[in-house]
Formats: sequence, structure tokens, C-alpha cells
Amino acid sequence: MTILHIDSSINGENSASRTLSRSIIDQLKTAEWGEQVVTRDLVSEPLPHLTLDAFADTSVLDEFLAADTVVIGAPMYNFSLPTQLKAWIDRIVIAGKTFHYTANGPEGLAGGKRVIIALARGGFYDANSPAAALEHLETYLRGVFNFIGIEPEFVRADGLAISPDQRDASIKQALGETVRLAA
Ligand SMILES: Cc1cc2nc3c(=O)[nH]c(=O)nc-3n(C[C@H](O)[C@H](O)[C@H](O)COP(=O)(O)O)c2cc1C
Repeated sequence: MTILHIDSSINGENSASRTLSRSIIDQLKTAEWGEQVVTRDLVSEPLPHLTLDAFADTSVLDEFLAADTVVIGAPMYNFSLPTQLKAWIDRIVIAGKTFHYTANGPEGLAGGKRVIIALARGGFYDANSPAAALEHLETYLRGVFNFIGIEPEFVRADGLAISPDQRDASIKQALGETVRLAA
């Protein structure tokens, strides 16, 4: 089994999404046997913005297609995803490879993979909260993976900017979720 580990936080060792994605990887490594982990850090080795020329290079797509499980650390920046992660998405959502259009509309071609996403957000974005309409991270990632045929699983650490106590409690709760996910 091949696990692809993607991180996109600019916060280095202080990053909640990196802490959570690492925990998920650790859990998967103890739960499974014979895994190979491929790591792609989109901050230390950023992908350039998409250009037409970039379509000729399929290495990022091939790496994604080769993975059985994909674990993604995804912080919320300005209500959405980091541009580093968007540049990666731009290379895996490819017509004829991960989706195609049929007479009945678009169809995902990347099904059969497990995708686990560790979200870290400064505020709260529950359905009934005042900020719910500004949530474009989880909704975007769910939409884009659904589009290519995958139902992603989420671990969420929210309210991280509210107070140090809230941050500690949210990360602790989310770390507990990572154990449940990998079980
Ligand atoms: C550039 C930047 C933009 C941010 N924008 C938002 C935002 O729009 N909404 C929010 O709830 N938190 C926002 N935050 C807070 C982060 O989501 C929060 O600090 C989270 O812990 C980041 O994940 P990380 O710890 O993995 O880096 C922002 C943080 C940064 C650095």
C-alpha cells in the first residue's frame, strides 16, 4: 500500500494541520502492513502556478494516481485553501485522467482511493454559525474530490485562533479523531 502525504501549511513545526496529518500517517503505518509513504511538502518544494506548459509534466498526477491513500494537511487561509495546495489540485484534476464528461454530465475516474484531509481553521464554521457562508475550504475540497470520484474523510481542528486553551482543546480532540480514522 502506498500512502501519499501532502502538507501545505506555512507554519512549520507550529502547524496544527501538519501535526494532524503526521498523526494520521503514524496511525496508518501502525494499522497497515508494508506501507510506503511518499511525502510532498508544498511549502518547502512549491509547485509553480499552473501554466499551459505544466500540463506536459504528469509527475504530480502520476504520484497521486499511484497512491492508495492520500493524507492532506489543509489550513484555512482567507476562507479558502493555501495557493500552494491549489497548485497541486490544478495538477490532479485532469480531463481524461481523473474525470471525464459523458452524455449524463461529468464522471469521476479516480475512485477507489482513500483521501483523508486534516483541516485547521482559526474560527468556527459550523452550518449554523455566522461565518458558515465564508467556509470555502472544506466545501471546496469535498466538491473537488467528489468531482473526481472520491468521498474524502475529514479531521477538523477549529477555533484555533480563539484562545490558547481553545487551540489546545481543538488539537487534542482532532488528534483523538485521527486515531478513530485509522482504526
Ligand atoms: C495567511 C493566513 C490566513 C488565515 N485566514 C484565516 C481565515 O480566513 N479564517 C480562519 O478561520 N482562520 C484563518 N487563519 C488562521 C489559520 O487557519 C489557523 O492559524 C490554522 O491553525 C492554520 O493551520 P496551520 O496551523 O496548519 O498552519 C489564517 C492564517 C494565516 C496564516
